[in-house]
Amino acid sequence: MSTGSVVKISKHGNVAVLTVNNPPVNTLSSKVREETHAALDEMARWQDVKAALLICEGRTFFSGADISEFSGPPQEVPYREMFARIEQLTVPVVAAMHGTVMGGGLEISLACHYRLAVPSTRFSFPEVTLGIIPGAGGTQRMPRLIGVEKTLDMVLNAKPVDAKTAVEWGFVDAIIEGDLKEGALRYAEKLIAEGKGPRRTSERSVDPATGTPAIIERMKALAAKLYPNRVAPYTAIKAVSASLTLPIAKGLEYETELANESKVTPESKGAIHAFFAERETRKIPDLPADTEARAVKLAGVVGAGTMGGGIAICFANAGIPVNIIDASDEGLKRGMAGIDKTYESMVKRGRITAEEKAQRMALIMPSLKYDDLKAADVIIEAVFEDMKLKQDVFRKLDAVAKPGAILGTNTSTLDINDIANVTKRPADVIGLHFFSPANVMPLLEVIRTDTTAPVTVKTVMELAKPLRKTPVLAKVCYGFIGNRMMEGYAREAGRMTLEGATPREVDTALEKFGMAMGMLAVFDMAGVDIGVKVHQANAAQYPPDPTYYQSDFALYDAGRLGQKTSKGYYRYEPGDRTRHDDPEALAILKARAQQLGIEPRKHTEQEIVERCIYPLMNEGIRILEEGIAIRASDIDVVWTAGYGFPRYRGGPLYYADTIGLKTLLDGMLKYQKVFGPMHWQPAKLLVELVAQGKSLADWERSRRSR
Ligand SMILES: NC(=O)c1ccc[n+]([C@@H]2O[C@H](COP(=O)([O-])OP(=O)(O)OC[C@H]3O[C@@H](n4cnc5c(N)ncnc54)[C@H](O)[C@@H]3O)[C@@H](O)[C@H]2O)c1
Repeated sequence: MSTGSVVKISKHGNVAVLTVNNPPVNTLSSKVREETHAALDEMARWQDVKAALLICEGRTFFSGADISEFSGPPQEVPYREMFARIEQLTVPVVAAMHGTVMGGGLEISLACHYRLAVPSTRFSFPEVTLGIIPGAGGTQRMPRLIGVEKTLDMVLNAKPVDAKTAVEWGFVDAIIEGDLKEGALRYAEKLIAEGKGPRRTSERSVDPATGTPAIIERMKALAAKLYPNRVAPYTAIKAVSASLTLPIAKGLEYETELANESKVTPESKGAIHAFFAERETRKIPDLPADTEARAVKLAGVVGAGTMGGGIAICFANAGIPVNIIDASDEGLKRGMAGIDKTYESMVKRGRITAEEKAQRMALIMPSLKYDDLKAADVIIEAVFEDMKLKQDVFRKLDAVAKPGAILGTNTSTLDINDIANVTKRPADVIGLHFFSPANVMPLLEVIRTDTTAPVTVKTVMELAKPLRKTPVLAKVCYGFIGNRMMEGYAREAGRMTLEGATPREVDTALEKFGMAMGMLAVFDMAGVDIGVKVHQANAAQYPPDPTYYQSDFALYDAGRLGQKTSKGYYRYEPGDRTRHDDPEALAILKARAQQLGIEPRKHTEQEIVERCIYPLMNEGIRILEEGIAIRASDIDVVWTAGYGFPRYRGGPLYYADTIGLKTLLDGMLKYQKVFGPMHWQPAKLLVELVAQGKSLADWERSRRSR
């Protein structure tokens, strides 16, 4: 037996077993590669090895390449060499896989001669979602096993394939029930007993019937549908279809060439930026290093409405028991029924079993008494958006909560300082802004007040992990990061409908840009009344513009509240979310525009996108300049994780650097000339950076080095 720090090799009878343990998810890091070579050297010195087994310890078989190596020199060749070395071994090599086998992890298994999996193993090629392509043989070896069409199905859909399907398709030989290592050893011994030798994927050929021109065309159409504006899916199609004609060595070289090209495209840089940005958000420079998070073993939620119910589900899914209280029995019953319905639909969709539903429901304990919150480690308030009501709730929480309990509020618009200050423990109060549906949306804005203690911040940033949220820390300001930036974006989307653009024109342009859903469709989905009520309640905060959000008001006044009334910016058939153009909506918008004296205007797609995205980016820069957000990439995360901004564009501030700050500034000034300065004032920092010829990335770097 020989032991490296992450790769061990040992002998079981005639089987050499390579065991990898590179926590947390066994990425194929350079250390793993180096030690694997050393282990293979060692194995070569051994006598009587008749088969080899590759297996991983911990959570999963190799989960993929080490993405942190992406910023360094290309690694395709080292991967290729190592995989070729495995494939060329003269004894049969068996991969025994559990967990989530992705990208490079799947590719190494294709270089092995036999593949085994446990029933729960899942396999995927997620590369195109990161703007890249499988670059360690996947595009050449997989088609040799399952054909071009199925390979492209995996690569383009980037969704996990389960073990049963993998066997049906033919890239896994058998499913091992029970202990994987024992089963795999038995399998290897059987291969030896039957005199089976290596079975090299690269020596097989691709079935031409799986890659006919008609199939390739269909795959291109799928790429166009799934990935507007992107090139990686087409590059992947090129690479995979090359397997039909190129011999393996040439095919692998061609794959390397294409993989390296894909790594320098704006889309891969944007997606990789978004990936790393999400890992950065928990780093909070001003927290004392010795700040230790408090344990959260029991939670409380006040208000069993839309948000409270979703938040309670997050805790139950994390295995944390949660008491949920409401002001009325009726509210509580409705809330619990909503929670039950959410879980029921998860059971129906096969996401959880009926037993898991029952276990999770049992963790959610309904009550009408504040007293039942006294043992909770964290309590989150989600009652109606009303300052007096929230202050009242916090006074009650102050009276019952145990010392050291974290008191969170899910307010979207209220000043959390004013909530914290009614308690005798403002250091424990913090904003926890979940997004709807709270059990689905990954973003959690965490808002610290002037008095929030470091330990409170640390505890909730850590709590985000089991709750499966991406936390972004912000300071108090109206709208925090996300909604504050939304203000200009949504304002312009609505305003253009008053200038004569149809809702569909606006939404189509935004969706073509890459937004998950056009703004006006979002209004219809969320409820046109929600925004209107916020505006009515906060009129004093908003600029003195008589046209301000008037498209929403016009629809609201006509009782068109969106999907829930089957009419809003669009018309809907009952029970169906398909948007239909509605001349009645256009007439209402036109009449309001005439009342307000708004000049009609012709909008190109470019103008629609610029008018929405420029104010969004400009406000993001202002948020950065004011120190509301810690770093530009946090702002990017808010919009990619919470508002459907395209990840392949990195996020609004990354995108501002991509188009160039001067382009943004010139654009702001161009629209200022047409619409006046009220909404088109460039951020001070934007003007300064353009004058200095610097990017936001430069600014961040210089701040860090100070
Ligand atoms: N809905 C969203 O999309 C969304 C998103 C982010 C944040 N928020 C914020 O979350 C909060 C809740 O919003 P919602 O949409 O879940 O509202 P909701 O109307 O669905 O639910 C509010 C619940 O609070 C209960 N309640 C009222 N007074 C109470 C009291 N004194 N004690 C206990 N329970 C009480 C009500 O009975 C109701 O069940 C608001 O502050 C809102 O601004 C909402």
